[in-house]
Amino acid sequence: MPSSNKTILGAFVQTRPKFGKNFENIEQAIKLASKVKADLYVFPELCNTGYAFTSKEEAKSLSESLLNGPSVEALQSFSEKKKCALVAGLAEKDGEKIFNSAVIVDNGKLKGIYRKTHLFYREKLWFEPGDTGFKVFELDKQGCKVGPIICFDWFFPEASREVAIQGADVICHPANLVLPGKAQLGMLVRAFENRVFVITANRVGIENRSSKDKFRYTGKSQIISPTMEKLAGAKSNESVAKAAKLDLELARDKMVTTMNNAFDDRRIEFYRKQYQNLLLSNPEITNT
Ligand code: ACM
Repeated sequence: MPSSNKTILGAFVQTRPKFGKNFENIEQAIKLASKVKADLYVFPELCNTGYAFTSKEEAKSLSESLLNGPSVEALQSFSEKKKCALVAGLAEKDGEKIFNSAVIVDNGKLKGIYRKTHLFYREKLWFEPGDTGFKVFELDKQGCKVGPIICFDWFFPEASREVAIQGADVICHPANLVLPGKAQLGMLVRAFENRVFVITANRVGIENRSSKDKFRYTGKSQIISPTMEKLAGAKSNESVAKAAKLDLELARDKMVTTMNNAFDDRRIEFYRKQYQNLLLSNPEITNT
């Protein structure tokens, strides 16, 4: 199919952060991103701090305000200078609470914050469960709509479905994946079943900070099309940024065959009772 005039360049930035070196990690991530031209960059989860905290106090001491912290400000000035948008995973401090969050920045402005809904493993010991819910953000470039989810959110198909139903063209997926290959495969399906683009930005490297855990991050960041093609991919151990052209019209066409629509054909009356009761008591969401 010839591409429409609604295209943008989307990129992942696959980094190798050093634990606790926020300033250096963001500087390196921006340097890597600057090597490829894109309208939308996705950076990994917790790309300022690293992942393997050993206590809540440590996680708190490294987390930053997402309104005026140094990491978000550095990302905002990159976005302003390059006239681009970005989604980046950052450790967020909000008063006494800390969250595993993502910022959505567009032309230098903070458009929004998403806080990870499904915390993975020992993250539950440091972070509050996200309280923002799933949201979609419209970018200046081509009115592209991005739906952020963070790492383990991938495992719950409802997360991707929710942002897709809200109109996301691109699911932006900052990640620190540790189960080899599983999410990368899963996200092929999330792209296909929701007819959206998916950009997974994973990290690489090893963190061995306590006797309890040694994490080897699996890299293999990828950009997937609504028809399940891999448009760009990284290796499991390289720091690299790669971009691909995303034709937004493809993500807006939900027809699977001439007689099947990915969303309209759902038979929600046969889905779980619990879900039906929720829909009945919230009439405003019954047509989703
Ligand atoms: C993960 O959610 N960082 C695996």
